[in-house]
Amino acid sequence: MVETSDEWIKTRTGIVERRVSKPEDEASDMAVAAARQAMDMAHAAPEDIDLILIATVTPDYRLPSQACIVQKKMGMKNAAAMDIAAACAGFLNGLSIADAYIKSGQFRKILVIGAEKLSSVTDYRDRNTCVLFGDGAGAAIIEPTEGERGILSTFLKSDGRYTELLWIPDGGSKYPYQSLNGSDPRVYIKMNGSEIFKHAVRMMGEASLKVLESAGLKGEDVTLMVPHQANIRIIESTARRVGIPMEKVYLNIAYYGNTSAASVPLALNEALRNGKVKENDIILMAAFGGGLTWSAAVVRW
Ligand code: UT7
Repeated sequence: MVETSDEWIKTRTGIVERRVSKPEDEASDMAVAAARQAMDMAHAAPEDIDLILIATVTPDYRLPSQACIVQKKMGMKNAAAMDIAAACAGFLNGLSIADAYIKSGQFRKILVIGAEKLSSVTDYRDRNTCVLFGDGAGAAIIEPTEGERGILSTFLKSDGRYTELLWIPDGGSKYPYQSLNGSDPRVYIKMNGSEIFKHAVRMMGEASLKVLESAGLKGEDVTLMVPHQANIRIIESTARRVGIPMEKVYLNIAYYGNTSAASVPLALNEALRNGKVKENDIILMAAFGGGLTWSAAVVRW
């Protein structure tokens, strides 16, 4: 489709394969599939969930929220539902919001999902972006726990000055989607990759160091780091800065590419299922995305 090579993509990004859903598949169906797995693991029933948070930049509709669509599809009749717009950092923002609500006592069982159908906003004529993005979903159930385990600390930050480094110009009220068609590049993700790269390296490191500091921990205390999987070079540089050897970093970028808000929960779920996460392990998660937004969380499993 574009002038590129397998060699360029692998060495510059670490991506080997990606998943792309069928055009007729709904992003909410991936969210539901991930939510079902999380609910099975947590032995939760749909009526137990009292808040649904979905991080996504690719909802089925602009109105209503994707969280309301998932609520309908899953019959979660006792829940409040809302979306989080924080691009790739969205799942960790969701974790932080869930943590605060649980601590406040307002909600007791919260479903947090990161789900993206990025193929629907990828311009397959643009080699700066079309080799990077994939589709996927991941989910977690957050609830109160006893003792020392659980979310130890979270960190969130944004810098709204950099809108145009990573954005989808069309589809909002400024450029309503109806006025454009699929041949107009404004309907797709646009990214200034090298500028985003520089910010990502700095901010993933900052988020990781700050969240560890507020939990009273250091890089050497981390059992496993689960980073946003956008570029292997960003991950390596962040791990180096935080003092975490690459053997302690969970990687699946080769298989999925960049799935935005789905990336961290997809990797966390895989790490868990592959036996890489054990009770009392210290798990550090960090992400960076358009906005700009950057977030991290540290959990004692
Ligand atoms: O998910 C959250 C946010 N996203 C990210 O964190 C992504 C951050 N950025 C990146 O991962 C990297 O910047 C990219 C992978 C997007 C690009 O890698 P880079 O090493 O920063 O490349 P570049 O943009 O500086 O481009 C270097 C060269 C350019 O050619 P010239 O001008 O040197 O002749 C590009 O035109 O590579 C060229 N190029 C490509 N060549 C082959 C850009 N994309 C491609 C491609 N295939 N797909």
